[in-house]
Amino acid sequence: MTDNKTVNREMFNDVMVPNYNPASMVPVKGEGARVWDQKGREYVDFAGGIAVNCLGHCHPAMVSALQEQSQKLWHLSNVFTNEPAIRLAKKLTEVTFADRVYYANSGAEANEAALKLARRWAIEKHGEHKQQIIAFTKGFHGRTFFTVTVGGQPAYSDGFGPKPGAIEHVDYNNIDALKELISDKTCAVMMEPLQGEGGVVTPDVEFVKAVRELCNENDALLIFDEVQTGFGRTGSLYAYEQLGVTPDILTSAKALGGGFPIGAMLTTTEIAEHLKPGTHGSTYGGNPLACAVSEAVFDVVNTKETLDGVKQREQWFKEQLIAINEKYNVFSEIRGQGLLLGAAMNEEYEGRARDFLLAGQEHGVMVLIAGANVVRFTPSLVISEEDIKEGLQRFEKAVAQVVGQ
Ligand SMILES: Cc1ncc(COP(=O)(O)O)c(C=O)c1O
Repeated sequence: MTDNKTVNREMFNDVMVPNYNPASMVPVKGEGARVWDQKGREYVDFAGGIAVNCLGHCHPAMVSALQEQSQKLWHLSNVFTNEPAIRLAKKLTEVTFADRVYYANSGAEANEAALKLARRWAIEKHGEHKQQIIAFTKGFHGRTFFTVTVGGQPAYSDGFGPKPGAIEHVDYNNIDALKELISDKTCAVMMEPLQGEGGVVTPDVEFVKAVRELCNENDALLIFDEVQTGFGRTGSLYAYEQLGVTPDILTSAKALGGGFPIGAMLTTTEIAEHLKPGTHGSTYGGNPLACAVSEAVFDVVNTKETLDGVKQREQWFKEQLIAINEKYNVFSEIRGQGLLLGAAMNEEYEGRARDFLLAGQEHGVMVLIAGANVVRFTPSLVISEEDIKEGLQRFEKAVAQVVGQ
């Protein structure tokens, strides 16, 4: 028998598959941008569940949507539809380029659907020769075998036997490389409109516009993976709005549920037609609990107040991180957009981002890394100015510890 007193981090190693190596403490409670662990220690949360908790922990609008739906209907499967799923799809299609929504449970699954749809569209419209998928090195699209192969990081996709085929990569921001590779055999180009896991790398707007043009010239679909950038993270509901480039398919997850697992693929009617009944599906996709929570998140995030607030918070973060760097000289650059920010290590601290993450935990602030060289910040979109200040003061102590001051 186990109870809460005997459950601890050591036990994790005995009972879990060792594909994760979580922090040494076990969080038990969260409120807004603060988290408490089993020992009652409190942390400022700048990690946000990896860009998921867009309204912080236990936001009242989410709690009440979940409570209300939990007393009505939990699950049906797609043999039936449900009201929250239809309402959320209506909202998403009203405010985006998309006319149609497919629900999944995660980012990887939304991307898997996008890739399968693109292949189906190309094969049905043009024939079997049009199968090539082009994506970008250092991209990240999830961990199913299709999506991890499309993601441009062999460390994640190698060692599992034969990979799905007809997938090629070029460097992000290198339009000449794409121009050379793309042809009438290309079925889709998949990209993040700001690479998150790959190091918080912002694309040149001209590059993204040129990708769109090349897709048009070759009748290839442009898929934007907005799993990390979407749902307010960069200061607009989706990042494509600020780029002025409209994709053919867009995927959303993470912040879409604010902490409740849900993913979605958005597209036009014409493209959507190629997934006829029976061609793709998911038992849980469109689950009423997930959709009810997501709808509540949407109503808070898709407001001028929240989206303008993201831009304001970006400024606060950037100013204070720059000030920390002026004192300690550890970063080469503070980059990113909205509340998807990265502090890149300078030469002296190359490869040591994790040291800052670990020191942060010791000083009561949760941050992320994006590769070995970037400390990443993806906090709640509605985090208070006070929490930002407090968290960055703690982070400064962590920086001082790493540099030995
Ligand atoms: C851009 C992007 N796509 C897809 C995924 C995969 O999402 P999930 O872990 O929900 O499958 C991630 C996760 O980090 C991501 O950042």
